Amino acid sequence: MSEILIILLAYLVGSVPTAVWTSRYFFNIDIRDYGSGNAGATNTYRVLGSKWGTFVMIVDMIKAIVAVKLVYFLPYALQDDLYLVNMQLGLGLAAVIGHIFPIWANFRGGKGVASLFGMVLGIQPNVALCCVGIFILVLYLTRWISLSSILAAIAFPVFILIIFNEPEHLYRIFAVTVAMLVLLTHQKNIGRILNGSESKVPILKHRDR
Ligand code: G3P
Repeated sequence: MSEILIILLAYLVGSVPTAVWTSRYFFNIDIRDYGSGNAGATNTYRVLGSKWGTFVMIVDMIKAIVAVKLVYFLPYALQDDLYLVNMQLGLGLAAVIGHIFPIWANFRGGKGVASLFGMVLGIQPNVALCCVGIFILVLYLTRWISLSSILAAIAFPVFILIIFNEPEHLYRIFAVTVAMLVLLTHQKNIGRILNGSESKVPILKHRDR
């Protein structure tokens, strides 16, 4: 199979609009008309509850992992480490773009965080786990999922460039690009955080002092 075809396939896999289809088929609503209007796990959690939010998060992560693993349709990629990593980055990015602009849901999808995490988990699990650490820490301190996502995404290139000192240039460019992409998809959240109207996760409510 050619690279172009396989990247297209990764985009189509990433395009599966888990939150939209879950809300439509199980609740007869469009998740994009409720809550923050985002077709992602956080808004599903907010509108449909923790069980469905977790379901959407897991499926959105799996989509990106599957997209990255499509590289195994290119047997020659397995003989060249550099080519393998570059193809995995391309496939993962195609899946994340599919998640944000899904062909199956009028190009109005989520903000890319769960898929991005799934993608990094599929390529470099140690970096993904470090980013999860940042996410959990910020979530514990602030209870804002959006801010946790943003700071975990910003931490990603920091881990790649400084802590893990990744030598591959394309990987470095990729890490900076996806951090910027997450900042772009969270513009409204940033506005709400700044004006104090961003919603917080109720289950992590701090004890009253
Ligand atoms: O991953 C998306 C999350 O960071 C924010 O989602 O629904 O609060 O805009 P939402």
